[in-house]
Amino acid sequence: MTQNSKDQSIFDVLETAAIEVKKRHLMTLFSEQPNRAHTYSLNVEPFFLDYSKQAINKNAFKALINFAKYKELEAKRDAMFQGEKINHTENRAVLHTALRDSSQITNSFPQTSLEIESTKTKMLNFVDAVTSQKHLGHTGKVITDVISIGIGGSFFGPKMLQSALIKHNNNQIKIHYLANIDGEQIVHLLDSLNPETCLVIVASKSWTTAETQLNAQSVLKWFNNTLPQKEAIKKHWVALTAKSKQAEEFGIQASMIFPMWDFVGGRYSVWSTIGLPLALSIGSKAFIQILEGAASIDKHFREAPLDKNMPVIMALLGYWQQEYFNLNNLMVLPYSHNLKSLPAYLQQLDMESNGKAVNSTGDEVKNSGPILWGAEGTNCQHSFMQLFHQGKQSSMIDFILPAKGHEQYQAQHKLMIANCLAQAQALLQGKTLTQATNELLATGLNQEQANDLAKHKTMPGNTSSNMLIIEEITPHSMGALLALYEHKVFCQGIFFDVNSFDQWGVELGKSLGKNLLDCMETSQTESLDPSTSNLLDYINKKSEQTY
Ligand code: F6P
Repeated sequence: MTQNSKDQSIFDVLETAAIEVKKRHLMTLFSEQPNRAHTYSLNVEPFFLDYSKQAINKNAFKALINFAKYKELEAKRDAMFQGEKINHTENRAVLHTALRDSSQITNSFPQTSLEIESTKTKMLNFVDAVTSQKHLGHTGKVITDVISIGIGGSFFGPKMLQSALIKHNNNQIKIHYLANIDGEQIVHLLDSLNPETCLVIVASKSWTTAETQLNAQSVLKWFNNTLPQKEAIKKHWVALTAKSKQAEEFGIQASMIFPMWDFVGGRYSVWSTIGLPLALSIGSKAFIQILEGAASIDKHFREAPLDKNMPVIMALLGYWQQEYFNLNNLMVLPYSHNLKSLPAYLQQLDMESNGKAVNSTGDEVKNSGPILWGAEGTNCQHSFMQLFHQGKQSSMIDFILPAKGHEQYQAQHKLMIANCLAQAQALLQGKTLTQATNELLATGLNQEQANDLAKHKTMPGNTSSNMLIIEEITPHSMGALLALYEHKVFCQGIFFDVNSFDQWGVELGKSLGKNLLDCMETSQTESLDPSTSNLLDYINKKSEQTY
């Protein structure tokens, strides 16, 4: 068999499997396979993944595993862990995994491994010094507030994990995240704080992000109004960056600069010094537990066979639904208030990684990563879930549910569990016209009334979903959860044949934004397109300020 015919046969088998499984309602798959729930579920501590509500059968699952082998997933995974320059457009390695366990690269990159460990020690010693009130401000006051200035990967990770781990938050230190460039947030924040008791973190790997640079300048002005002494900045300002020289030129002293490396992408950087505000909030011990949780999933991803490998299975199911069921978006529904920011975090992780259009040889690819969105349950049920029960649109769905809830409110958590599992049940089972009609007749409606109303109460069901149970929200399980999705995204990048680790697509908006700002500052708008120029004219009229 030639390579081409071998390739084709892989896709023929997938296609045949898809046709076969589409012939049946998901409920039929369950009736045909009594042990389906057991067969298509996987327990990898601290997770239990039930993917039995996916439109797969034995042939489809086998074909998907063969597809992963055909894409040489294991070799490409190992190449990442070993520090090969898999980010080919930037000629960089991808080693965020080394931040959770640098022993992975001790032999191949001993110097880097040492730097990772020494930087981690420096950062956590600083955390301990601030949280133990050994590190005081310029006027000798205790640090009570931290302003963390950063956006994208320099914001989402710490922010999301801090709200997920609210139980571990240090009540003596309040962390304030300043990501967007909105004076409404800035004035409200700075009016409530005293520079003497504030630590200001500038989190920017590139040290060029316009929002972060402008916010840092504004906060510095505010800071200098109270503490004009040049010395003052030394005790209060910290930089998290790969550009230490630029941070020193800003005025931040070397001992307060915590380095980042090019082999850690922004959206993969919460494990790095970008995690400093998070560590200040939850403490160094809990931060280390987050790293350990991620390392446990790294080990699983590296060692488990493909058909028992959780990120691989999640990635294959996403590929399967996109390629063969034409689903282009993934809805992530954390049934946990503390995980409400998880969808926003995963949006950057997934969409900035796999929102690409060409492969390593520059050829256009067939598919890219999904549109990712979501919201906390049970709120989603009182909002957009109606559309997925009766509407004409579809979505891939990841339900995420902690098994343990708050010990004081067990009744709420029991209702949370019941609602989450019931949503997946309802999407799976639906309600037939007969069922709806009989229910209405039982309420006393006559046949004609029941027939009319029943049409509005039927639901097709047959909607797939994943159910991911997390034993409990802890630093360890949160590290594991983010690593699980990181590796899922990695696998999907291999399946879609895209580079998951560059982000050239964000450059155009940045450069056009800079150009537009220049036009606004000089009022030279002739070079602008008619739409933009017209909009700017209107805004200038309405805002009574000339932008
Ligand atoms: O959105 C583009 C991006 O470069 C992200 O990848 C990154 O996390 C964010 O901007 C912030 O970048 P920096 O940390 O360099 O300021």
